[in-house]
Amino acid sequence: MNTWFSEKLLVWYQLNKRDLPWREEKDPYKIWLSEIILQQTQVIQGLAYYQKFITHFPKVQALAEASENQVMKLWEGLGYYTRARNLHATAKIIASQYKGKFPKHYNQIRALKGVGDYTAAAIASFAFNLPHAVVDGNVYRVLSRVFNLKVPIDTAAGKKQFQELATALLPNKKAATYNQAIMEFGARYCKPRQPDCQNCIFSHTCMAFEKSLVESLPVKEKKTKVVPRYFNYVVLIDTNNRVSLQKRTSNDIWKGLYEFPLIESSEPISLKKALALAEKKFGLSALRSKLIYQSGNYKHLLSHQTIHACFYVFKPVKFKNATTENIALKDLSAYPFSQLLVKFLKDCELREIV
Ligand code: ADE
Repeated sequence: MNTWFSEKLLVWYQLNKRDLPWREEKDPYKIWLSEIILQQTQVIQGLAYYQKFITHFPKVQALAEASENQVMKLWEGLGYYTRARNLHATAKIIASQYKGKFPKHYNQIRALKGVGDYTAAAIASFAFNLPHAVVDGNVYRVLSRVFNLKVPIDTAAGKKQFQELATALLPNKKAATYNQAIMEFGARYCKPRQPDCQNCIFSHTCMAFEKSLVESLPVKEKKTKVVPRYFNYVVLIDTNNRVSLQKRTSNDIWKGLYEFPLIESSEPISLKKALALAEKKFGLSALRSKLIYQSGNYKHLLSHQTIHACFYVFKPVKFKNATTENIALKDLSAYPFSQLLVKFLKDCELREIV
């Protein structure tokens, strides 16, 4: 493969790269941590979380020894919580099976929970300079546009073609720097919307630019389907200002996070219906006389779901339900919550409700 592409990119990177704490870093634990954080997160948001995790858990052993709640609490607000659960599980495996030493072979790295093709290539190249090409959203954009590659990126054939092209373009001895460079270029110039084609180093050779196809690439075959869900939260507070909490344990969004008892419905429901369902589900009669607050509608957007939520606050309630934990209101901040609940609790604080 001609080397013009990588050479141009490497020169641009040397002159334009941002100083990020995981760059120049050679500790595979820190590189792994940064890559898990950055999987579905922008650098700007990921930075603070990276610093927090490194401060709390400077070594993989410390992360392995943390409690699940501690890890989830630190991850609170970052979304895609499976990442945090896998991070914790993998730290425990590295601590026990690998005696705390991060594996250095690509196949061992790829076999870790939460590590896919992209993350394995990133860790292998950044930490060990192994010649594995990364293919993430940035790389899909840059390569599909510069080389006018129209095969859909969400098909097996598309993934294979992009991986092959990325591998062919990789300068083997400079895998770490080149991988950083192409992602940096995608993030800064070859952006999903309003790419900076006027100032792009590839504008004379970019096939999509020449044909005015930049914004229509890369191609995706399937449109993302967004499903609506309706969450009716029942906030039960007793005379001692303890509130009912439960942990989400099923394989669904927010697994491992805490929430108030929940009634999920397939469509919006009236206050009357919500009360009737709450009374039935939680075995609490005469709840309706204890309703002290009904929130407005909260709309929470996730990549594949839109959550429409409403909160009903009841006080004082005698707890009967053994499946929930009863937590003092003042201790709530120690528990990991979804952003939706963090927002609701903040709103309540402002209104002096709970
Ligand atoms: N996105 C994913 N990994 C990254 C990295 N190492 N630097 C910048 N952005 C990234």
